[in-house]
Amino acid sequence: MKITIEQERSIIMEILTRFNIPEEDAYIVADVTMDADLKGFTSHGIGRFPQYVKGLKVGTIDPEAEITVENETASTALLNGNHKFGHVVTYKGMELAMKKAEQTGVGLVGVHNSNHFGVAGYYSDMAVMQDMIGVVIANTEPAVAPIGGKEPIIGTNPIAIGIPANKNYVSVDMATSASARGKLLEALRKGQKIPENVALDCDGNPTIDPEAALKGSILPFGAHKGYALAFMVEIMAGPLVRAAFGKGVKGTANPEEMCTKGDLLMAIDPSKFSDIEQFKEEVDEFVAEIKGSGETIFIPGDMEVNNIKRFREEGFSIDDTLFKQLKEISEELSFDIDAIIEG
Ligand SMILES: NC(=O)c1ccc[n+]([C@@H]2O[C@H](COP(=O)([O-])OP(=O)(O)OC[C@H]3O[C@@H](n4cnc5c(N)ncnc54)[C@H](O)[C@@H]3O)[C@@H](O)[C@H]2O)c1
Repeated sequence: MKITIEQERSIIMEILTRFNIPEEDAYIVADVTMDADLKGFTSHGIGRFPQYVKGLKVGTIDPEAEITVENETASTALLNGNHKFGHVVTYKGMELAMKKAEQTGVGLVGVHNSNHFGVAGYYSDMAVMQDMIGVVIANTEPAVAPIGGKEPIIGTNPIAIGIPANKNYVSVDMATSASARGKLLEALRKGQKIPENVALDCDGNPTIDPEAALKGSILPFGAHKGYALAFMVEIMAGPLVRAAFGKGVKGTANPEEMCTKGDLLMAIDPSKFSDIEQFKEEVDEFVAEIKGSGETIFIPGDMEVNNIKRFREEGFSIDDTLFKQLKEISEELSFDIDAIIEG
Protein backbone atom coordinates (compact mmCIF):
# COMPACT_ATOMS: atom_id res chain seq x y z
CA MET A 1 0.00 0.00 0.00
CA LYS A 2 1.07 3.60 -0.56
CA ILE A 3 0.91 6.44 1.95
CA THR A 4 1.63 10.14 1.53
CA ILE A 5 4.21 11.97 3.57
CA GLU A 6 1.49 13.92 5.41
CA GLN A 7 -0.26 10.66 6.34
CA GLU A 8 3.07 9.45 7.72
CA ARG A 9 3.33 12.60 9.86
CA SER A 10 -0.22 12.03 11.21
CA ILE A 11 0.51 8.39 12.13
CA ILE A 12 3.74 9.35 13.92
CA MET A 13 2.15 12.27 15.77
CA GLU A 14 -0.73 10.02 16.92
CA ILE A 15 1.75 7.47 18.27
CA LEU A 16 4.03 9.95 20.00
CA THR A 17 1.37 12.08 21.65
CA ARG A 18 0.01 8.91 23.28
CA PHE A 19 3.38 8.52 24.98
CA ASN A 20 3.13 12.12 26.26
CA ILE A 21 5.97 13.32 24.09
CA PRO A 22 5.85 17.13 23.98
CA GLU A 23 4.50 18.37 20.63
CA GLU A 24 7.73 20.15 19.67
CA ASP A 25 9.74 16.96 20.27
CA ALA A 26 7.20 14.79 18.44
CA TYR A 27 7.38 17.17 15.50
CA ILE A 28 11.17 16.76 15.34
CA VAL A 29 10.94 12.95 15.45
CA ALA A 30 8.27 12.99 12.73
CA ASP A 31 10.27 15.39 10.56
CA VAL A 32 13.48 13.32 10.73
CA THR A 33 11.54 10.11 10.01
CA MET A 34 9.71 11.67 7.06
CA ASP A 35 13.04 12.97 5.75
CA ALA A 36 14.40 9.39 5.77
CA ASP A 37 11.44 8.00 3.83
CA LEU A 38 11.40 10.91 1.37
CA LYS A 39 15.11 10.51 0.63
CA GLY A 40 14.64 6.77 0.03
CA PHE A 41 16.33 5.70 3.28
CA THR A 42 13.27 3.62 4.19
CA SER A 43 15.46 1.48 6.46
CA HIS A 44 15.47 4.48 8.84
CA GLY A 45 11.95 5.80 8.28
CA ILE A 46 8.57 4.85 9.72
CA GLY A 47 9.66 1.20 9.54
CA ARG A 48 11.70 1.87 12.69
CA PHE A 49 8.60 2.80 14.72
CA PRO A 50 7.91 -0.69 16.08
CA GLN A 51 11.45 -0.48 17.58
CA TYR A 52 10.86 3.00 19.02
CA VAL A 53 7.44 2.04 20.45
CA LYS A 54 9.06 -0.90 22.22
CA GLY A 55 11.75 1.44 23.57
CA LEU A 56 9.08 3.82 24.89
CA LYS A 57 7.19 0.94 26.50
CA VAL A 58 10.15 -0.64 28.26
CA GLY A 59 11.56 2.75 29.26
CA THR A 60 14.82 2.76 27.31
CA ILE A 61 13.51 5.94 25.67
CA ASP A 62 12.47 8.51 28.27
CA PRO A 63 10.23 11.18 26.71
CA GLU A 64 10.48 13.45 29.75
CA ALA A 65 14.26 13.37 30.17
CA GLU A 66 16.10 16.69 30.09
CA ILE A 67 19.31 17.05 28.09
CA THR A 68 22.16 18.24 30.30
CA VAL A 69 25.40 19.99 29.36
CA GLU A 70 28.32 18.28 31.07
CA ASN A 71 31.26 20.19 29.64
CA GLU A 72 31.39 23.36 27.63
CA THR A 73 33.82 25.75 25.97
CA ALA A 74 33.26 28.44 23.34
CA SER A 75 33.48 25.88 20.54
CA THR A 76 32.74 22.52 22.19
CA ALA A 77 30.12 20.90 24.39
CA LEU A 78 29.46 17.46 25.78
CA LEU A 79 25.77 16.63 26.15
CA ASN A 80 24.12 13.93 28.21
CA GLY A 81 20.89 12.97 26.45
CA ASN A 82 19.67 11.15 29.58
CA HIS A 83 17.98 8.65 27.21
CA LYS A 84 15.59 11.09 25.59
CA PHE A 85 14.44 10.31 22.01
CA GLY A 86 17.65 10.22 19.91
CA HIS A 87 16.19 12.41 17.17
CA VAL A 88 15.48 15.20 19.66
CA VAL A 89 18.88 15.00 21.39
CA THR A 90 20.75 15.08 18.06
CA TYR A 91 18.60 17.97 16.78
CA LYS A 92 19.34 20.03 19.90
CA GLY A 93 23.01 19.01 19.73
CA MET A 94 23.36 20.25 16.15
CA GLU A 95 21.53 23.49 17.05
CA LEU A 96 24.13 24.05 19.76
CA ALA A 97 27.02 23.21 17.38
CA MET A 98 25.69 25.77 14.88
CA LYS A 99 25.33 28.45 17.56
CA LYS A 100 28.95 27.91 18.56
CA ALA A 101 30.12 27.93 14.93
CA GLU A 102 28.39 31.28 14.44
CA GLN A 103 30.64 32.70 17.17
CA THR A 104 33.91 30.85 16.73
CA GLY A 105 33.79 29.37 13.22
CA VAL A 106 33.38 25.81 14.46
CA GLY A 107 31.05 24.05 16.87
CA LEU A 108 31.77 20.51 18.01
CA VAL A 109 29.21 18.76 20.17
CA GLY A 110 29.60 15.28 21.63
CA VAL A 111 26.58 13.32 22.81
CA HIS A 112 26.17 10.30 25.05
CA ASN A 113 23.18 8.57 26.67
CA SER A 114 21.07 9.29 23.61
CA ASN A 115 19.13 6.85 21.43
CA HIS A 116 18.92 5.80 17.77
CA PHE A 117 18.58 9.06 15.77
CA GLY A 118 17.37 7.84 12.35
CA VAL A 119 19.24 9.31 9.38
CA ALA A 120 22.49 11.18 10.04
CA GLY A 121 21.99 13.44 7.02
CA TYR A 122 18.99 15.25 8.53
CA TYR A 123 21.27 16.91 11.08
CA SER A 124 24.04 17.84 8.59
CA ASP A 125 21.25 19.39 6.47
CA MET A 126 20.38 21.63 9.43
CA ALA A 127 23.84 23.21 9.18
CA VAL A 128 23.63 23.49 5.38
CA MET A 129 20.36 25.42 5.72
CA GLN A 130 22.31 28.01 7.75
CA ASP A 131 25.10 28.20 5.12
CA MET A 132 27.37 26.00 7.24
CA ILE A 133 29.09 22.68 6.66
CA GLY A 134 27.57 19.94 8.82
CA VAL A 135 29.31 16.73 9.85
CA VAL A 136 27.64 13.95 11.82
CA ILE A 137 29.17 10.67 12.98
CA ALA A 138 27.90 8.06 15.41
CA ASN A 139 28.73 4.57 16.60
CA THR A 140 26.20 1.75 16.85
CA GLU A 141 25.94 -1.68 18.41
CA PRO A 142 28.37 -4.10 16.75
CA ALA A 143 27.64 -5.32 13.23
CA VAL A 144 30.98 -5.28 11.41
CA ALA A 145 33.90 -7.68 11.96
CA PRO A 146 37.45 -6.39 11.56
CA ILE A 147 39.07 -7.46 8.28
CA GLY A 148 40.20 -11.06 8.75
CA GLY A 149 37.77 -11.69 11.61
CA LYS A 150 34.18 -12.91 11.83
CA GLU A 151 33.04 -11.51 15.18
CA PRO A 152 31.15 -8.21 14.91
CA ILE A 153 32.86 -5.60 17.10
CA ILE A 154 32.43 -2.35 15.18
CA GLY A 155 29.15 -0.53 14.48
CA THR A 156 27.68 0.45 11.13
CA ASN A 157 28.98 3.87 12.18
CA PRO A 158 27.29 6.40 9.86
CA ILE A 159 28.96 9.49 8.43
CA ALA A 160 27.03 12.43 6.99
CA ILE A 161 28.62 15.55 5.52
CA GLY A 162 26.59 18.38 4.02
CA ILE A 163 28.07 21.38 2.20
CA PRO A 164 26.20 24.56 1.25
CA ALA A 165 25.96 25.63 -2.40
CA ASN A 166 23.68 27.91 -4.39
CA LYS A 167 22.41 25.54 -7.05
CA ASN A 168 23.06 22.06 -5.70
CA TYR A 169 22.24 19.84 -2.75
CA VAL A 170 25.64 18.43 -1.76
CA SER A 171 25.42 15.72 0.88
CA VAL A 172 26.76 12.28 1.60
CA ASP A 173 24.88 10.21 4.16
CA MET A 174 26.01 6.63 4.57
CA ALA A 175 26.91 3.80 6.85
CA THR A 176 30.58 2.77 6.91
CA SER A 177 29.37 -0.81 6.49
CA ALA A 178 28.61 -2.19 3.01
CA SER A 179 24.94 -1.80 3.94
CA ALA A 180 23.13 -0.14 6.79
CA ARG A 181 21.90 -2.77 9.31
CA GLY A 182 18.41 -1.27 8.80
CA LYS A 183 18.46 -2.49 5.19
CA LEU A 184 19.02 -6.05 6.42
CA LEU A 185 16.18 -5.71 8.92
CA GLU A 186 13.98 -4.30 6.15
CA ALA A 187 14.86 -7.20 3.80
CA LEU A 188 14.06 -9.69 6.59
CA ARG A 189 10.70 -8.01 7.22
CA LYS A 190 9.86 -8.06 3.50
CA GLY A 191 11.06 -11.65 2.98
CA GLN A 192 13.75 -10.51 0.52
CA LYS A 193 17.36 -11.54 -0.04
CA ILE A 194 20.19 -9.04 0.42
CA PRO A 195 22.76 -8.21 -2.30
CA GLU A 196 25.93 -10.25 -2.63
CA ASN A 197 29.19 -9.00 -1.09
CA VAL A 198 27.42 -7.27 1.79
CA ALA A 199 27.49 -9.74 4.66
CA LEU A 200 28.94 -12.92 6.14
CA ASP A 201 27.15 -15.60 8.18
CA CYS A 202 28.38 -16.50 11.66
CA ASP A 203 30.93 -18.94 10.19
CA GLY A 204 32.45 -16.15 8.10
CA ASN A 205 30.95 -17.36 4.78
CA PRO A 206 29.29 -14.93 2.32
CA THR A 207 25.48 -14.89 2.61
CA ILE A 208 22.49 -13.26 0.91
CA ASP A 209 20.11 -14.38 3.67
CA PRO A 210 19.31 -11.36 5.91
CA GLU A 211 18.66 -13.56 8.95
CA ALA A 212 22.06 -15.28 8.63
CA ALA A 213 23.69 -11.89 8.01
CA LEU A 214 22.14 -10.38 11.15
CA LYS A 215 23.48 -13.32 13.16
CA GLY A 216 26.86 -13.00 11.40
CA SER A 217 28.45 -9.72 10.35
CA ILE A 218 28.14 -6.97 7.75
CA LEU A 219 31.23 -6.24 5.68
CA PRO A 220 32.80 -2.80 5.87
CA PHE A 221 32.38 -0.71 2.69
CA GLY A 222 35.51 -0.44 0.53
CA ALA A 223 37.38 -3.35 2.17
CA HIS A 224 40.19 -2.28 4.55
CA LYS A 225 39.53 1.44 4.01
CA GLY A 226 35.93 1.23 5.24
CA TYR A 227 37.08 -0.84 8.20
CA ALA A 228 39.79 1.71 9.04
CA LEU A 229 37.33 4.61 8.79
CA ALA A 230 34.68 2.83 10.88
CA PHE A 231 37.37 2.06 13.47
CA MET A 232 38.17 5.79 13.79
CA VAL A 233 34.47 6.76 13.97
CA GLU A 234 33.99 4.18 16.75
CA ILE A 235 36.49 6.11 18.89
CA MET A 236 35.50 9.66 17.96
CA ALA A 237 31.85 8.86 18.64
CA GLY A 238 32.74 6.62 21.58
CA PRO A 239 35.44 7.32 24.18
CA LEU A 240 35.83 10.95 22.96
CA VAL A 241 32.23 11.72 23.93
CA ARG A 242 32.13 9.45 27.00
CA ALA A 243 30.07 6.82 25.18
CA ALA A 244 30.72 3.08 24.87
CA PHE A 245 32.79 1.45 22.13
CA GLY A 246 33.04 -1.96 20.47
CA LYS A 247 31.02 -4.69 22.16
CA GLY A 248 30.03 -2.26 24.90
CA VAL A 249 27.72 -0.38 22.50
CA LYS A 250 24.11 -1.45 23.01
CA GLY A 251 20.57 -0.36 22.32
CA THR A 252 20.72 1.10 18.80
CA ALA A 253 18.94 -1.88 17.22
CA ASN A 254 17.72 -3.71 20.32
CA PRO A 255 15.32 -1.32 22.12
CA GLU A 256 15.24 -3.48 25.23
CA GLU A 257 18.74 -2.40 26.21
CA MET A 258 19.68 1.09 27.41
CA CYS A 259 21.48 2.81 24.56
CA THR A 260 25.18 3.39 25.17
CA LYS A 261 26.31 4.72 21.77
CA GLY A 262 27.67 8.21 21.11
CA ASP A 263 27.44 10.94 18.46
CA LEU A 264 29.78 13.71 17.36
CA LEU A 265 28.19 16.68 15.62
CA MET A 266 30.17 19.42 13.91
CA ALA A 267 29.20 22.71 12.29
CA ILE A 268 31.77 24.76 10.35
CA ASP A 269 31.02 28.33 9.29
CA PRO A 270 32.77 28.90 5.91
CA SER A 271 32.26 32.66 6.23
CA LYS A 272 34.96 32.63 8.92
CA PHE A 273 37.42 31.36 6.28
CA SER A 274 36.44 33.39 3.23
CA ASP A 275 33.53 35.01 1.44
CA ILE A 276 30.54 32.66 1.79
CA GLU A 277 29.09 33.52 -1.64
CA GLN A 278 32.40 32.81 -3.33
CA PHE A 279 32.62 29.52 -1.43
CA LYS A 280 29.16 28.42 -2.53
CA GLU A 281 29.86 29.46 -6.14
CA GLU A 282 33.03 27.36 -6.12
CA VAL A 283 31.14 24.35 -4.77
CA ASP A 284 28.66 24.75 -7.67
CA GLU A 285 31.57 25.14 -10.09
CA PHE A 286 33.06 21.88 -8.84
CA VAL A 287 29.71 20.12 -9.22
CA ALA A 288 29.45 21.44 -12.81
CA GLU A 289 32.98 20.24 -13.56
CA ILE A 290 32.16 16.77 -12.21
CA LYS A 291 28.82 16.52 -14.02
CA GLY A 292 30.33 17.84 -17.23
CA SER A 293 32.73 14.90 -17.28
CA GLY A 294 30.18 12.31 -18.45
CA GLU A 295 26.58 11.57 -19.38
CA THR A 296 25.50 9.76 -16.25
CA ILE A 297 27.51 11.30 -13.45
CA PHE A 298 25.84 11.83 -10.10
CA ILE A 299 27.11 13.75 -7.12
CA PRO A 300 26.54 12.80 -3.47
CA GLY A 301 23.06 14.11 -2.71
CA ASP A 302 21.49 13.60 -6.18
CA MET A 303 19.88 10.34 -5.14
CA GLU A 304 18.19 12.07 -2.21
CA VAL A 305 16.98 15.02 -4.35
CA ASN A 306 15.50 12.68 -6.99
CA ASN A 307 13.80 10.54 -4.36
CA ILE A 308 12.34 13.53 -2.51
CA LYS A 309 10.78 14.84 -5.75
CA ARG A 310 9.37 11.42 -6.60
CA PHE A 311 8.07 10.33 -3.19
CA ARG A 312 6.56 13.74 -2.36
CA GLU A 313 4.44 13.46 -5.51
CA GLU A 314 3.73 9.72 -5.54
CA GLY A 315 3.78 8.79 -1.86
CA PHE A 316 5.74 5.71 -0.93
CA SER A 317 5.08 2.05 -0.29
CA ILE A 318 4.58 0.39 3.05
CA ASP A 319 4.86 -3.39 2.96
CA ASP A 320 2.14 -5.60 4.43
CA THR A 321 4.21 -6.67 7.44
CA LEU A 322 5.02 -3.08 8.39
CA PHE A 323 1.40 -2.05 7.95
CA LYS A 324 0.30 -4.93 10.17
CA GLN A 325 2.81 -3.83 12.83
CA LEU A 326 1.60 -0.20 12.64
CA LYS A 327 -2.03 -1.33 12.75
CA GLU A 328 -1.35 -3.35 15.91
CA ILE A 329 0.31 -0.29 17.46
CA SER A 330 -2.68 1.88 16.51
CA GLU A 331 -5.13 -0.59 18.06
CA GLU A 332 -3.11 -0.78 21.23
CA LEU A 333 -2.87 3.02 21.44
CA SER A 334 -6.50 3.55 20.38
CA PHE A 335 -6.25 5.59 17.23
CA ASP A 336 -7.74 4.86 13.84
CA ILE A 337 -4.91 4.30 11.33
CA ASP A 338 -7.40 3.36 8.58
CA ALA A 339 -9.11 6.74 8.94
CA ILE A 340 -5.73 8.49 8.46
CA ILE A 341 -4.96 6.46 5.36
CA GLU A 342 -8.43 6.69 3.83
CA GLY A 343 -8.17 10.37 4.76
N1 LIG B 1 21.29 5.90 13.04
C1 LIG B 1 22.25 5.04 12.81
O1 LIG B 1 22.80 4.50 13.75
C2 LIG B 1 22.64 4.70 11.40
C3 LIG B 1 23.63 3.72 11.16
C4 LIG B 1 23.98 3.42 9.85
C5 LIG B 1 23.34 4.05 8.79
N2 LIG B 1 22.39 4.99 9.07
C6 LIG B 1 21.67 5.66 7.97
O2 LIG B 1 21.34 4.72 6.96
C7 LIG B 1 21.12 5.43 5.75
C8 LIG B 1 21.58 4.54 4.62
O3 LIG B 1 22.98 4.35 4.62
P1 LIG B 1 23.66 3.51 3.43
O4 LIG B 1 25.09 3.39 3.71
O5 LIG B 1 22.90 2.27 3.23
O6 LIG B 1 23.41 4.48 2.20
P2 LIG B 1 23.73 4.25 0.66
O7 LIG B 1 24.64 3.11 0.43
O8 LIG B 1 22.40 4.25 -0.03
O9 LIG B 1 24.59 5.56 0.31
C9 LIG B 1 23.97 6.75 0.31
C10 LIG B 1 24.88 7.91 -0.08
O10 LIG B 1 25.64 7.65 -1.28
C11 LIG B 1 25.35 8.67 -2.25
N3 LIG B 1 25.38 8.08 -3.59
C12 LIG B 1 24.65 7.03 -4.02
N4 LIG B 1 24.93 6.76 -5.32
C13 LIG B 1 25.85 7.68 -5.71
C14 LIG B 1 26.54 7.94 -6.93
N5 LIG B 1 26.35 7.19 -8.02
N6 LIG B 1 27.41 8.97 -6.97
C15 LIG B 1 27.61 9.73 -5.87
N7 LIG B 1 27.01 9.53 -4.68
C16 LIG B 1 26.13 8.52 -4.60
C17 LIG B 1 23.96 9.14 -1.92
O11 LIG B 1 23.69 10.45 -2.43
C18 LIG B 1 23.96 9.07 -0.39
O12 LIG B 1 24.43 10.25 0.20
C19 LIG B 1 21.81 6.78 5.93
O13 LIG B 1 20.80 7.76 6.05
C20 LIG B 1 22.55 6.67 7.26
O14 LIG B 1 22.60 7.87 8.03
C21 LIG B 1 22.05 5.33 10.33
